[in-house]
Amino acid sequence: MKPLDTLDEDALKELIAGELGRVRDRSLGLTTDVLDETDLTGQVSPLMSPLVWDLAHVGNYEELWLLRAAAGIEPMRPEIDTLYDAFEHPRAERPSLPLLPPREARAYIDTVRAKVLDSLSSVRFDTDAPLTSGGFVYGMVVQHEHMHDETMLATHQLRKGAPALLEPPGEAPPVSPAGGAGGEVLVEAGPFQMGTSDDPWAYDNERPGHIVDLPSYYIDAEPVTNAAYLAFMEAGGYDDPRWWDAKGWEWRTAGNKRAPAFWTREETGWVRRRFGRVEPVPPTEPVQHVSWYEADAYARWAGKRLPTEAEWEKAACWDPVAGRSRRYPWGDVYEDDRANLGQRMLRPSEAGSYEKGASAYGVRQMVGDVWEWTSSDFHGYPGFRSFPYKEYSEVFFGPDYKVLRGGSWATHPLAVRGTFRNWDYPIRRQIFTGFRCARSAVAA
Ligand code: AVJ
Ligand code: FE
Repeated sequence: MKPLDTLDEDALKELIAGELGRVRDRSLGLTTDVLDETDLTGQVSPLMSPLVWDLAHVGNYEELWLLRAAAGIEPMRPEIDTLYDAFEHPRAERPSLPLLPPREARAYIDTVRAKVLDSLSSVRFDTDAPLTSGGFVYGMVVQHEHMHDETMLATHQLRKGAPALLEPPGEAPPVSPAGGAGGEVLVEAGPFQMGTSDDPWAYDNERPGHIVDLPSYYIDAEPVTNAAYLAFMEAGGYDDPRWWDAKGWEWRTAGNKRAPAFWTREETGWVRRRFGRVEPVPPTEPVQHVSWYEADAYARWAGKRLPTEAEWEKAACWDPVAGRSRRYPWGDVYEDDRANLGQRMLRPSEAGSYEKGASAYGVRQMVGDVWEWTSSDFHGYPGFRSFPYKEYSEVFFGPDYKVLRGGSWATHPLAVRGTFRNWDYPIRRQIFTGFRCARSAVAA
């Protein structure tokens, strides 16, 4: 994909129409193409929406932003807005709402989409209209649908019963010679640019770009693997409060946690359930489905700590020779062979894969494979201004949420970049999240 800012308005609109089509194929591949009516309307966990809610919600969001706000088109079905407002109804209560049944939801989102494609040519991407400038609001809607597709994958992962998703034919990437070796990389002290002021489809919470000066630190060259995590488990990590944050110890004790989510112990060793299939835990894959508390405890046991999100971003994006930040660890342009993104596989690739995707510092797999917990709470950057609505990120700022970086195998390349910030509660494990460790190079 070309950097968006090199495209003129017509080329950008062509790209947008193509990406709208591709994300919709993806959404349908996770819902009506693979599941029957009751599977779509039922709830697999109070943590997740019924899939039919996600489906109509992405259409309703698209109607609000692309038809009403961008194109000035009258509401189609204003009476359903409240059903699909994520703030009015928490996930746990969504199955009891009078939701559009699957066929109606499909018809609704199809109609919205047809009107969006119809009106696209008449909407101006002028630089003095911030909502549509650079196609921003279209990018926001495409990213939103991809985010819900990743959420729907988490629903599939929680779902019991026979597998619904086919393993995509995508081949595992080659593991580089240096790969799987683990190790750490030194990031020298000094300033770097964090966030962005000119990425046209970046969210408000990635802005404004600003300079952050960090002391030197080491960061793991690869994400923590299942084998490494198992060593923590076998060393009694879950039984030793010394490694755990106080709230984390409470969480671990109250829920009697002993392993990552979806793992079970069998005679032959640890197995995991992955989209309805049970298989041995692969030792060389990055660990996923761990809470922030588990990641934090592992890091302390290993004599390290989680990186701050500034440390994560500097190691991922800063090019110390050029004195600038890259959009992705390997450069400014997305390329398929640099990272495991976009649901090409239903799993992370082995630690050590994608050597060509390494950052300027030689840190591997920062983008793709697994989201990575950081030690940081979710806050606005200095000079933050909410745009275009407070409920995307501002209402979540504060100490309750931890920042996640880098995207997972389930994240679409359009919905992640080096500056992208995700957030969740520290107890959450159904998301495709792992971590890597860091440590200060100079004793404090
Ligand atoms: C950015 C992934 C935390 O799923 O709650 C979806 C994205 N915002 N709909 C979420 C989002 C509105 C959000 N995360
Ligand atoms: Fe949403």
